[in-house]
Amino acid sequence: MTAMNKTSAAETNSSSASLLFSSLRVRDVTFPNRIVLAPMQMYKTAPDGMFTDWHFQHLARFAIGGAGTVMTEGLIVDPVGRNTYGDCGIWNDDQIAPLKKFVDFLHGNGTLAACQLHHAGPKSARQRPWEGLGPLGEAEASKGEAPWQPVSSCDGRSVDGWHQPRGLTPDEIKQLVDAYGAAAARCDKAGFDVVDVHAAHGYLLHSFLSPVANTRTDEYGGDLNGRMRIALEVASAIRANWPETKPIFFRISSVDWRKDLDTRSDGWTIEDSVVLARELKKRGVDVIDCSSGGIRAENSLMDYAKQRRKLTRGHQVPYAEQIRRETPISTMAVGVILDGPQAEAILQAGQADLIAVGREFLTDPHWGLHAAQQLGVDPEWSLWPPSYGWWLSLREKIGIE
Ligand SMILES: Cc1cc2nc3c(=O)[nH]c(=O)nc-3n(C[C@H](O)[C@H](O)[C@H](O)COP(=O)(O)O)c2cc1C
Repeated sequence: MTAMNKTSAAETNSSSASLLFSSLRVRDVTFPNRIVLAPMQMYKTAPDGMFTDWHFQHLARFAIGGAGTVMTEGLIVDPVGRNTYGDCGIWNDDQIAPLKKFVDFLHGNGTLAACQLHHAGPKSARQRPWEGLGPLGEAEASKGEAPWQPVSSCDGRSVDGWHQPRGLTPDEIKQLVDAYGAAAARCDKAGFDVVDVHAAHGYLLHSFLSPVANTRTDEYGGDLNGRMRIALEVASAIRANWPETKPIFFRISSVDWRKDLDTRSDGWTIEDSVVLARELKKRGVDVIDCSSGGIRAENSLMDYAKQRRKLTRGHQVPYAEQIRRETPISTMAVGVILDGPQAEAILQAGQADLIAVGREFLTDPHWGLHAAQQLGVDPEWSLWPPSYGWWLSLREKIGIE
């Protein structure tokens, strides 16, 4: 099977010359275009994890700005798994109502609503990024933000200087798997169309997948089957609590990139990701959301900055391509995808089915609409809200000296 003739559960509408602005059907859900706002934690809520008006206005801009699908930041499934005291949650029923109001707004705009389920595992109990991203300490405790002990696949630090996590017992793993299922059911009540599971970036599920972090000797550790077990159980629990009609996405760190950008063989590998993707597909997952890295401090973005390493455009796209080519599952590419022509080229080359854009949307909330103009898809400003587009099109016709 070549990447280009791959449709798996997804059916495409090829009426448009642009793939980025063509629809995609997965299960009973039709993605209006291929642009997805990447999940981005904002660390802006109260400790009760409630989605606020701030989050509403922040995310609504991207729906107005041309993302066919807007994904929430990682919503925490259990308060022990909060990255910071600013994380949004979906661990209780009170958290459903503000999310539902937001989902209703997206649907009124013709935009799909996606949510991400998250547990930070060993990276829990941290300062907000702009406060240092280090472990919570006495200074934060004196402000009412006391640290707590994170949980992980195993006892012991995965990142130097961070809090020592405690390995989950098999009973606690079962409870956690149930918590993912319950969270998915709440997301369904809120009306979300898509759920994405965060199993990347050194957080809880990645701490089980990667041999760098997981040194357990029981059924949840050891060989690849043991290390994948919790991720597969989470996928099954979500599928059991999430309508058959709606897609499930799974975000993975496709490789650990443990030592440096050119080392592919250490830790979790792309070959492991291919095996995982096939197993996830069997359990009802529809799309692999292909990220990378994060299992240790040495491959974090902070470390890039310290070593003056540069990011490269589309650096994770080859993983989305390989998984799409070698498995019967669709993929979403993410990471330094900066403009419409780049996103279009990825789709045209059969490297992915969907394109997630994060930071570039932060710099330009109308990224999707500008991508349409760059690709010549919207010469008349007709994708813009009419109350913007009518005036902007008129100004263009008049011209500016
Ligand atoms: C502010 C910020 C918060 C993020 N939070 C999350 C998150 O909640 N879940 C997640 O899977 N990735 C998170 N990421 C990673 C993004 O989803 C994305 O993979 C990454 O930024 C690379 O894409 P980009 O180059 O388009 O920004 C975050 C990134 C940023 C910049």
